[in-house]
Order: sequence, then C-alpha cells, then structure tokens
Amino acid sequence: MPPSQLYERDAAALSRLQKLRFFPLAVTGGEGCYLIDETGRRLLDFSASWGAASLGHGHPAFCNAVARACREQAGASTLSAANRPAIELAEALLARVPGDGARRVWLGHSGSDANETVARAVVAATGRPRILSFAGAYHGGTAGSMAISAHSVQSHAEKAAGLEIIPYPNPYRPQGGDPAGQAIIDDLETAFAGPCPPGEVAALFIEPIQSDGGLIVPPTGFMARLADICRAHGILVVSDEVKVGLGRSGRFSCIEHEEVTPDIIVLGKGLGGGLPLSAVIGPASILDFASSFAMQTLHGNPICAHAGLAVLKTLDHDNLMANVAEVGAYLMARLAALARRHQAVGDVRGRGLAIGVELVTDRESKAPAAALTAKVVYRAFELGLVLYYVGMTSNVLEMTPPLILSQAQADEAVAILDQAIGDAAAGRVSDAAVAAFEGW
Ligand SMILES: Cc1ncc(COP(=O)(O)O)c(C=O)c1O
Repeated sequence: MPPSQLYERDAAALSRLQKLRFFPLAVTGGEGCYLIDETGRRLLDFSASWGAASLGHGHPAFCNAVARACREQAGASTLSAANRPAIELAEALLARVPGDGARRVWLGHSGSDANETVARAVVAATGRPRILSFAGAYHGGTAGSMAISAHSVQSHAEKAAGLEIIPYPNPYRPQGGDPAGQAIIDDLETAFAGPCPPGEVAALFIEPIQSDGGLIVPPTGFMARLADICRAHGILVVSDEVKVGLGRSGRFSCIEHEEVTPDIIVLGKGLGGGLPLSAVIGPASILDFASSFAMQTLHGNPICAHAGLAVLKTLDHDNLMANVAEVGAYLMARLAALARRHQAVGDVRGRGLAIGVELVTDRESKAPAAALTAKVVYRAFELGLVLYYVGMTSNVLEMTPPLILSQAQADEAVAILDQAIGDAAAGRVSDAAVAAFEGW
C-alpha cells in the first residue's frame, strides 16, 4: 500500500501520548459501518472507535439532533445553569436504567472521568477508604480512574491506597481448574476476615464483560454471588458498562445478563454516538452528597446531551437491541466455524456485538499468540477491515462494530478475517511493517 500522507502529517503534528496504533489508518470520512480513507477506500469498521460510534457514521438521527442542538445552543454546560437537553437526557437514563430509591445522574465526557468521579464519590460519601476491582480491569486513562484499574498497559500508574484487586474469572483459562470462579470468592471472604475488613470497602467495580482485559465473559452466577456478598457488607456494586452497555450486549445494560441490579451504572463511549459523553446513574446519597465535588466546565454540554438523547431514541426506534442480538449470534456462529479452519483460534466469546476472538500458538498449551494477533489485525486492515486487539497478553481480537451492523457486513468481515488469519499464520505478513506499531 502507498504511504498515507495524512498518517505522516499526524505523526508530525499529534502527540504520541494519546495514540494506541495498530496500522496506518487515516480517516477522512465515514458512512454507516464504513470508514473512508484519504484515497476513498472504504473499510468495514469493526471497532466503531472502540465502541464509541454506536450508530455508525453519519446516522441521520444523530446528525439531525446535533445540528438542531447547535442551532438552539442552550449554553455549553450544566455547571452554573440548568439546560433542557441535559435534564432530558438524565430523565431518560433514570427511566431506562433499573434501580431503586432516589437516584441521580452525573454527566461527564468520558468513561475515565465518570469512573474517577464514582471512585472519589463513593469513598468520600461513605467514609470507607477502600475500593475492590479486578485484575485486568481498565476503568480509564485519568489518574483517578487508572488508580482503580489493573491492566498491564497501565503498569506505570499509581494505585489508590487500599485498592484490593481480585482475579477476574476466565472460563477459557480457569485458575486452578475452577471455571465457576468459586476460589476467587473464597479468597475474598478470607481477605474480608483478615487484611481487608469489608466495613472499609466502599465499592466493588465490575465489568460485566471484561473488555480491554480480553473480552472475557464471566461464568454464569459468579457476579450474582459476588454482588450478594458485597450487599451483605454494605459495599456498593458499580457496573462499568462504558464499552459493553447501551444495547451492545443485546440488552440495555450488560449486567442484566448476570441478574444483578447494581447500585451504580457507568456509561460512556456509545452514549454520545461519537461525541464525548458519559453518565453515572446511582443513588442520590452518593451523587448528591456534596456540590462542586466533580465538575468540569463542559460537563452536561447540551450538544453532547442531544447526541445522547438521539442514541437512546434510535436504540428503540430502529430496534437496535434486537438487531444486535440477531446479528451478534450470527457473527459468533460464523466465527466459531472459522475456529474449525484455523488452529490459531483458541476461543470465540462475547455477548451481542461485543465479541472477542482469542488467538493462541496451539490449542493444547493455549500460549497467547501476540505476534500473530498483531499481524492479523494489520493484514485485515490491508484487506479492508478495521479491528484492534486487547487483552493482558495482547492476543484477543476485539469486535465492537456499530450496533446497526447487518448480516451481510458480518459475512464480509468473516471472509476478510479468514484470509487475514490464513495469511498471517502462513508468514505472508511482513514483520517489519507490523513492528512499526506498538498496539497494547
Ligand atoms: C470498561 C471501560 N471503562 C472505562 C473506559 C475509559 O473510557 P474512555 O477512554 O472513554 O475514557 C474504557 C475504555 O476503553 C473501558 O473499556
């Protein structure tokens, strides 16, 4: 492929601190589930910018809502004035997200600022200093959200004092031959009886599918057992649904699959449909406990709020959750069939349109095939499919396409992936080309 001029300009102008690159994609436009590059090449977008472009690119409902919001711009913030779109979005979320008692909504820009706010607020409001989270968790890229995360990519980040990290149960790689994760729960109860008194723990942060940790779906019943234990000790359960919430799993909240009603739900990415928007929905006792505690000038921005309302309306109007469930099941089945053709495919898992494909050097040892994974995504890009990889060992292909994905587009992606895995496994992808990109 000829070198991309835009990509070279990007390298010369934009900071590397905010890049996580896998191949030289430079985008000039988008349409539905496709991205368009500077040469006019159309690439099927199986990432949707890590799930943010939930309605795809240029969805009329999104465009109309944002255009109207700009024309009627109701200020820029909710900091020192109420604005109608922010209120309507909060009301819509309260009506949509299950929960009891008096609740409030906090609006932010990103999953990171939302999780950071929750972590600070639960500690300050309850007076309990500790947080529980999972190994492999990625709750964000700000200091406070990194402080409660435990992903290998953030090994440089400082952790919160008193953070207690527990293993995330992985049915494909069960620790000590315990696929149900009971040992994790037993160990937690031991910690509660000793070094980590539960009365000191403010909250447990759950990812109902551990996303950047490798698209890991927890074993049935695990989250419910854990949530029950937390409840018994007055520990709040926080469901971080930044990547997998809002219909992506086939249900509105991904935690619904676990039959857990969390105290707090965190949404981001797809909520803004491509604009910066996040939301925390939780008890008034936490989200109203103080004023001027977690605020930024553009929080509650009415243009972003209009975008969020358009996403919520379109989920219903276009019946997107049914589409996600149907096309997602079809795609999973096609990917499982791919596993029969390629020895490198160790596991295919997910819910709805949040799917992970784990690549291994051989199925017996399950050794992570990180180098191969980097080549597969590079080759897929050359062939016209955009997807990235995640995981603590960088060997899980992540699929989070727009929720409007069609069956024909699922077929197109599987055909490209089939060739990309075959080419990469046969050594037809240059090491040097891939080595220029750092990935996770
Ligand atoms: C589960 C989860 N929480 C939080 C975040 C942080 O979101 P953002 O990068 O939008 O701040 C991410 C990002 O990947 C995520 O996957």
